[in-house]
Amino acid sequence: MDTYPWSETYATGNWVIDTQHRRLLELAGLLSDALADGRSDEVAEQAMAALESYTRFHFAEEEAFLAAIRAPSLAQHRRVHASLTLDVEAMRFNLVARYPGVGEQLSRWVLNCLLPHMLNEDMAAVEATGSKRSRPRPSAGEECSL
Ligand SMILES: [Fe+2]
Repeated sequence: MDTYPWSETYATGNWVIDTQHRRLLELAGLLSDALADGRSDEVAEQAMAALESYTRFHFAEEEAFLAAIRAPSLAQHRRVHASLTLDVEAMRFNLVARYPGVGEQLSRWVLNCLLPHMLNEDMAAVEATGSKRSRPRPSAGEECSL
């Protein structure tokens, strides 16, 4: 099952960022599968830990890249990344506490929060690095909701 398949429409054109985004979606898919298949708590918790640690790794990498190129959007990214990370922590808490609905929470996180961030802020940040194929900037500061 490939719950959150990669699409070339997600590609920013930055190979490192796109490779990491692809991996994030894979890990979210693995967690989704573990939850949907009713796998053991241990398997689901390992999948959650993998998603959480990769999310932190990726955001740190992305922020280092944006800082290196002095991207004006760095502060906005930090804010959104912090919010997205808090969401993952909340999911882990709910999973460990055996609360129901973590799969639905994960789905909303990917579809309403992570993908829009990739498609809007990340895409705009990479395009602002000098590419001429710019497009209208997305409205900044929109919050996703789980
Ligand atoms: Fe970002």
